[in-house]
Amino acid sequence: MRTLNVALGERAYPIHIGPGLLPQAELLLPYLRSKAVAIVSNTTVAPLYLKTLAAPLRAAGVRVTEVVLPDGEAYKNWDSLNTIFDALLAARCDRSTTLIALGGGVIGDLCGFAAAIYQRGVPFIQVPTTLLSQVDSSVGGKTGINHPRGKNMIGAFWQPQLVLADTDTLKTLPERELSAGLAEVIKYGLIRDLPFLDWLECNMPALRTREAVALTYAIERSCQNKAEVVAADEFETAKEGGRALLNLGHTFGHAIETGLGYGEWLHGEAVGAGTVMAAELSRRLGWLTDLEFERTRALLAAAGLPIVGAPLGVERYIDLMGHDKKVIAGKLRLVLLKHLGEAVTYGDAPPEQIRAAIEACCHA
Ligand code: NAD
Ligand code: GLY
Repeated sequence: MRTLNVALGERAYPIHIGPGLLPQAELLLPYLRSKAVAIVSNTTVAPLYLKTLAAPLRAAGVRVTEVVLPDGEAYKNWDSLNTIFDALLAARCDRSTTLIALGGGVIGDLCGFAAAIYQRGVPFIQVPTTLLSQVDSSVGGKTGINHPRGKNMIGAFWQPQLVLADTDTLKTLPERELSAGLAEVIKYGLIRDLPFLDWLECNMPALRTREAVALTYAIERSCQNKAEVVAADEFETAKEGGRALLNLGHTFGHAIETGLGYGEWLHGEAVGAGTVMAAELSRRLGWLTDLEFERTRALLAAAGLPIVGAPLGVERYIDLMGHDKKVIAGKLRLVLLKHLGEAVTYGDAPPEQIRAAIEACCHA
């Protein structure tokens, strides 16, 4: 097992990464406020892993409440939150109960938000079971739900006590979900870690065949990058750069997710195509060379991601992107690439260039 630290002062916490972690109740016990937990999962993950996590906790004398939600991005909403609260109240869970998110980013974001507001805040632990959640969403404390008008529009910053990333769980992950996770892995290379990008170009086949050493290294390196960014700008308040850089491709991608309806494209797929759009705009601004653009697109394609945007129509993209959380005082700040390995936030891209970049990326 490898352990990283998210250095957030009194909110600091470890990320444990490795195989066979789920049944190790002793890794969780030191982080419980009392011997009571509620495990939140979904109808896909619960049959695979809930018992493996819950049984050793029960054997250690912990009272375990189970909450199993329907599976899917379309359920990242108020109804699912209410289902969690109904179950917590029915089981008389008090403020010392620790919520445990067992699943991908949807469950992590939902459970984290429930923890942030249940009885004005209870502790929670992330047990991510997708590549995307192990490399990104379980770390950093962004929690929330979707609104029909925009992705992740309702939420809170609420840091977990612990992240437990059991790499064995990735063995059951569908191929398409693995590729979706690779979009966020590639993101770290593009925005701040050129040596990692070079490594990814050489090791993409090993990652796609789930070679354990390569996969564990990619998870660890991604979490290290994320932990550093979050420690420097926890609440995404930096005027330039900072945590916002983690949203490379996301403004375009969120438009795809919202425009098509949640769940139609996977989040990571939308980020993949959105990253091509961000790279195309960066090229049009004279920042990325043609070669750098092609490297970006080729790596995303090698990860099995879509590199052509959804055909929403340019005006629909522009409308949806106007709802992004990076719109400040009516001005949209995009995350763009100065070079491979160096990203910036930029609010002055000419609208006709943004339109042209979207248009260019929506045709095969
Ligand atoms: P997801 O949670 O929907 O999981 C993907 C699918 O895989 C689901 O059907 C799930 O049930 C299934 N699954 C999960 N683990 C499995 C396993 N081990 N074996 C088999 N199937 C498994 O999607 P995701 O890609 O993990 O997360 C996407 C969500 O994360 C989006 O809502 C996105 O907005 C959010 N996100 C949040 C942050 C953050 O910082 N909070 C960052 C990135 C993404
Ligand atoms: N996934 C973006 C962030 O955590 O800030």
